[in-house]
Amino acid sequence: MNIKEMQDEIMRIKKEKDICILAHAYQSHDIWEVADYVGDSFGLAQRAAEAPQKTMIMCGVRFMAETVKLLSPEKTVYLPEPDAGCPMADQIDYDLLAALREKNPGYTVVAYVNTTTEVKTLSDVCVTSSSAVKIVKNMPEKDILFIPDCNLGSWVKKQVPEKNIKLVSGGCPTHVRVTVKDVEKAKTAHPNALLLVHPECLKEVTELADYAGSTTGIMDYAAKSDAKEFIIGTENSIVSHLQLAHPEKRFYALSKDCVCHNMKMTTLGDVYNCVVNGEGESITLTEEIMQKARKSIDAMLRLG
Ligand code: 13P
Ligand code: SF4
Repeated sequence: MNIKEMQDEIMRIKKEKDICILAHAYQSHDIWEVADYVGDSFGLAQRAAEAPQKTMIMCGVRFMAETVKLLSPEKTVYLPEPDAGCPMADQIDYDLLAALREKNPGYTVVAYVNTTTEVKTLSDVCVTSSSAVKIVKNMPEKDILFIPDCNLGSWVKKQVPEKNIKLVSGGCPTHVRVTVKDVEKAKTAHPNALLLVHPECLKEVTELADYAGSTTGIMDYAAKSDAKEFIIGTENSIVSHLQLAHPEKRFYALSKDCVCHNMKMTTLGDVYNCVVNGEGESITLTEEIMQKARKSIDAMLRLG
């Protein structure tokens, strides 16, 4: 079966079985083409909450599929490639967060959505890269413990100076590979290009950017900008997606090392096997965990 035949079959069967396919923007183009919605973590959560279908397939990483399940406990939610996880989400576990809470009484825990469901049960509000600034601004609390990404956290801190934001050491192993040297090299090679980066990049890299924002934010900015050339500082799949969407513009990867192997794990074949044969993992979470964790996700959708 070639790609086109596989895609046609996925489209036919998903309609027949009333399945909704969600894909994170870092997924491959052939997966984008069969998805009902492609976007950043916040957009995916919003769409998951509204989708009428009873079966959801989340092409991305585990915390994204678990978030979909939290939003729709009555639905069957599949992660087509069960090994696709987010290493940052595993940097803080329940016990570590419990200890951090104990050390920081009076602090409100703001957790990046890239966390485990267990950690979400101990968090007050979740945020994504596109909603973090707005949510932190909108929260009445002043003292905030921001976990686990200190780079995203310091980007938020800079934009919301009126809050007392405490950071912990954690971050995305993919985005922290990008260095200031990479920025200097890319700017020398492409002096007219704008630099667009994800706030998971190191603080000193984000500070040099013309724009910092989520995956969708970067794509929207590049689409609307009058500029003709862009250096892209996020997972490199975005460089190819942008080049395909805007052939009249030029897109360059800030670093060849900005590749997330977990995001690359899911293939069109996995999606096919999931839609057609029910393969992949059907996410199961206990009622108690779902109830507790959902509060922080609901707060995110309410404040964001
Ligand atoms: P977005 O919220 O921009 O989609 O980011 C998710 C992610 O995992 C980025 O590394
Ligand atoms: Fe996790 Fe980073 Fe990969 Fe996003 S890019 S899924 S934060 S490891």
